[in-house]
Amino acid sequence: MQLHVTCLPGDGIGPEVTLQALRVLEAVVDGFGHDLELDEKGVGGAALTACGNPLPDATIQACLSSQAVLLGAVGGPAFDHYPRDLRPEAGLLRLRQELGAYANLRPAVFYPALRACSPLREEVVKGTDILIVRELLGGLYFGQPRSIEGAPGARQALNSMRYGEPEIERIARIGFGLARGRRKRVVSVDKSNVLECSRLWREVVTRVGSEFPDVQLSHMYVDSAAMALVLKPAGFDVLLTENMFGDILSDEVGGVVGSLGLLASASIGGKVGIYEPVHGSAPDIADQGIANPLGAILSVALMLRHGFGLSKEAECVEAGVISVLKAGMRTRDLAQPGERTVTTDAMGSKIAEFVQLAADGGR
Ligand code: IPM
Ligand code: MG
Repeated sequence: MQLHVTCLPGDGIGPEVTLQALRVLEAVVDGFGHDLELDEKGVGGAALTACGNPLPDATIQACLSSQAVLLGAVGGPAFDHYPRDLRPEAGLLRLRQELGAYANLRPAVFYPALRACSPLREEVVKGTDILIVRELLGGLYFGQPRSIEGAPGARQALNSMRYGEPEIERIARIGFGLARGRRKRVVSVDKSNVLECSRLWREVVTRVGSEFPDVQLSHMYVDSAAMALVLKPAGFDVLLTENMFGDILSDEVGGVVGSLGLLASASIGGKVGIYEPVHGSAPDIADQGIANPLGAILSVALMLRHGFGLSKEAECVEAGVISVLKAGMRTRDLAQPGERTVTTDAMGSKIAEFVQLAADGGR
């Protein structure tokens, strides 16, 4: 199969982790007899510095003419004072919009090898395997009007949370559909005791849920879901929620399973999917070779599965990750005090090697 991928390394640790993810992708392509056509383009602060735009047209065009986008991370303190439209984050949000990527999948799995990383007791976190399905193109992130206005000292800021029925319907269908391939349970998270958007959300999700009688649907308020994720994370299967709640809860779940550095994501539903680690640009540890590449590598697994329908290849990458963790390889974020750490590069090469060997063995 021909895989046409655009890589957008971006800022901070983005370039380091996507480099390792691409190595693993190349090992998959070699090992399983596929072909890779790779483009690399600018996004975020890197593009802003190079050409004054966090999402240049050439980047959009390259993404639209490929089959999948691998993204590193965007943002950094150097850009914090920029006007909103010129911030690196605006580039990412526009990219999601341009590609129509409305469904953000964020799996969080507890790996027994990493029991020491979770702040929770093992009997609490054991068995945790959550798929957050986050609506990605609506709500507060994109709602109009939005502004900061008025005289200094008396300014007013405004954001709008807005959801239409079709937007809720399509993300709910994705959530229920994915639940069918898992443990068939959806918890829809909202704040319908306070917000109109959430009332509509609950109504529409319930209606869509009736088309999936084999999937068990329940509802939770976001505050109580935030607590339940810590008290009983293994009780969740698919967690379906709107944009802002999903942003917050997915970081929380990263903490629950032991490190945000492990979390991968797929943003799908539109013309081309975006696959990116959840962790962000982590400027404080950039360029030191200590970043955890597993989020990016697991994003390649999601790309193989959701972008190309190559589940055998995806499983092989995931098995590679489990194998290096079992072998005790730890980047700094995963290491316990006194434990030996490995570099970003060492972690990536080991997984690429695993994939190569597994593919050769499978032939
Ligand atoms: C994420 C990030 C982004 C978001 C930022 C960088 C715009 O936090 O993907 O979770 O808020 O969606
Ligand atoms: Mg976030």
